[in-house]
Order: sequence, then structure tokens, then C-alpha cells
Amino acid sequence: MSKFVVIDHPLVQHKMAMLRDKNLGTKGFRELVNEITMFLGYEVTRDLSVEDIEIETPLMKTTQKVISGKKLAIAPILRAGLGMVDGMLLLMPAAKVGHIGMFRDEETLEPQEYFFKMPQDIDEREVIVVDPMLATGGSAIMAIDSLVKRNVDPENVKFVCLVAAPEGVKALQAAYPQVDIFTAALDEKLNEDGYILPGLGDAGDRLFGTL
Ligand code: PRP
Ligand code: URA
Repeated sequence: MSKFVVIDHPLVQHKMAMLRDKNLGTKGFRELVNEITMFLGYEVTRDLSVEDIEIETPLMKTTQKVISGKKLAIAPILRAGLGMVDGMLLLMPAAKVGHIGMFRDEETLEPQEYFFKMPQDIDEREVIVVDPMLATGGSAIMAIDSLVKRNVDPENVKFVCLVAAPEGVKALQAAYPQVDIFTAALDEKLNEDGYILPGLGDAGDRLFGTL
């Protein structure tokens, strides 16, 4: 059974409140996205497998744990997912990064893919798909469809966002019940234009100053 995790640590709740404020500028928005992503990354990597290694401290030999198992890839959905890459890479500096270019048609809300570039061995990696917003779920589902077409097993995919709408969570869970979802907030609903309420507005525009 896959996980749906809302990371409601007090520091995350505090930073999310600041992030939602319409008066927060681009610099502050970027910094907070980065910081919140690190908290999400801490949780998303909780189940990574570890193995024993022998090391010698200045005082004695000892057996300690280090991360083992599958290699990792971070897969941001462009544009807004780019804002979450640095936070993830601070925690997982050796991870490869694959990009998924996608935008929502403003009328139909259907995602349109315009770019897809993954590491060659993506089917052998655990893939952490990042996008600040899970609204209708269309972009997340199409991103995972594209990974599956490249032989990625959905069991090896995790989806990480900052704000999720119940509609998007339901759609993603129905399409990919194997995929664990991590979010910093579960909001109320979508409005008639497909924006999350209360949400934080257009994440890509706020991140890149294209409002
Ligand atoms: C936003 C967001 C997600 C998508 C979520 O991207 O970053 O990718 O919408 O909506 P959905 O769950 O209904 O598919 P947008 O299309 O605005 O593109 P951008 O990141 O380039 O601004
Ligand atoms: N994309 C965003 O950037 N914000 C929303 O509220 C919904 C989709």
C-alpha cells in the first residue's frame, strides 16, 4: 500500500504560511521553496536502505551504516519543479537530475509535454518527481506515464509537492496506487480555473518572477 504523507512539522507549517502570502517577493519565495523542499526530502528518503561499513575513528574500529541500494534520480516537472531541485540535491548530492517539460493548457487544464530528458539508466533508479503543485493531478500522472514508457517501475517512483488538492491526490492515487505522495499541505479544493484554494497562486510565475 502506497503512502500519502502530509509533513506538518511546525517549521514546515510556519514556512508554508509565509510562502502563501501574496506579498512575499521572488527572492523570499525561492528561498522558502528550497528550505521546505529539504524537510520534504528528509521524509521522502526515510526508507532508503542502508548497509554496514567498517571505519576507524581516532579511537577504535567500528561498524556503521551508510546508504546502499538503488541510485537516485530527481525529476522536476518544469518550470516550477526546478525550484525544488537544489533543496533535494543538498540532501542527495550524487543524485542525477532528469527534466520533464510540461505546461497546463489554460482552457482545458490538460498537460502538454514539451521536453523529456532522463539519465540513461533511469529504469534502474529510484525516481523522485518534484513539482510544487498537485492540482488536478494531470501533470503528475502524465510525467509518471512518460517515465513508465521508459521502463521505470512505478513502485520506484515517489511524488513530492508543496501543496496538494484533494482532487489531485485522488486522481494520482487512482492512476498510480504504487506511488508514494509527500506534501507539505493538503488544501481544500480547486477553483473553476483549476487553481488550488487557498493555495499559493501560480508557483512557476512566483518562482521566476513572471507574474
Ligand atoms: C503548474 C504546476 C504543475 C501543474 C499542476 O504548472 O507547477 O506542474 O500546474 O497542475 P495539474 O495538477 O492540474 O496538472 P504550469 O502548467 O503552470 O507550468 P509552469 O510550471 O511552467 O508555470
Ligand atoms: N498550478 C499552480 O501553479 N498553482 C495552482 O494553484 C494550480 C496549478
